[in-house]
Amino acid sequence: MSYSFRSFAPGRVNLIGEHTDYTGGLVFPMALDLGITITGRVIPGELRAKSNNQSEPVHLRLPVEDLATVSPSWGRFLAAVLNRVPDSTGLDVEISSSLPSGGTGLSTSTALSCAFVLPLATTPDRPDDIDRLQLAKLVKAAEQDATGVETGIMDQLASLFGVAGSALMIDCHDLAITPVVVPDELQILIVHSGQERELVGSEYSDRREACYAAQEQIGPLRLATLSDVATLKDPTVRRIATHVVGDNARVRLMAAAFEASDLDLAAQILTEGHRSYADNFGASTATVEAMVAHLIAQPGIRAARLTGGGFGGSIVAFAEPGAQPNVDTWWTAAAPSAGANISWISDA
Ligand code: GLA
Repeated sequence: MSYSFRSFAPGRVNLIGEHTDYTGGLVFPMALDLGITITGRVIPGELRAKSNNQSEPVHLRLPVEDLATVSPSWGRFLAAVLNRVPDSTGLDVEISSSLPSGGTGLSTSTALSCAFVLPLATTPDRPDDIDRLQLAKLVKAAEQDATGVETGIMDQLASLFGVAGSALMIDCHDLAITPVVVPDELQILIVHSGQERELVGSEYSDRREACYAAQEQIGPLRLATLSDVATLKDPTVRRIATHVVGDNARVRLMAAAFEASDLDLAAQILTEGHRSYADNFGASTATVEAMVAHLIAQPGIRAARLTGGGFGGSIVAFAEPGAQPNVDTWWTAAAPSAGANISWISDA
């Protein structure tokens, strides 16, 4: 019998806890109702892929020996996943994205990779037999193969473990995931800053190196206090570590504010998180600062923060229900959503 499949994996918005994941700290993302849908079927020995937001299709004979030779380059994410799945077959797929195109900081490439791994990791008779933790690790490794950038595991866990109505407090040391209900009266807006971002070529890796340098001197940042950080001699390393230690604490505070439906406190933490990300961590830009200032001056918008890896991309804002931002860029009212899924359909 032959089968086709339809898989979906969401993008994510991170509410607080930025550049904390790769040092085993805390993050607080939520999966979105926007993401990547893939339909297709298994074919032996090759990869054929078309996408609604890419002009060129991908056609590769498998296995792919050297990812760097894959063209167009978006096919590297797919080839990298195929290379990481033991004994994987080929696939013929059509991809459609409901995330805006261009660098958004909303984990589009992770959503693509997670939606693509599901038909390789499941079978028609066992569609729900998914070891999501193992897949998150596999996709993280594959994305690193494709980009050369060593990220943390937040995006993959958010896309695979999303819970409708909740944000996820994730401890990136032991990978414990705690869903925390988003208060009804809180509307979460995502607004594109107008500046695209990509991980490759950004200062992401420099910041990660600074975090590792701090850890060499004061031990794991996830356990460090601000007094430990104060002993760091290099002012840049000290500022970066100050942000990471502060954001780890802010994740717990934000989760507690959500549990208490304390929206004033939640807004205050979001604002503090942005100031730390911009001033200590140096992840903001003039375009982002202008958009944050523009948003928080508007009625019904309580607070706004640059979200994701930094240096452009999207801003997350906490707003009154029904508030609409007055902006020229893409925006959405974000719904916290369930994680990735697949269904297999018999062609007979
Ligand atoms: C990117 C990475 C994540 C994380 C964030 C910053 O999205 O993929 O692992 O480090 O940046 O919080």
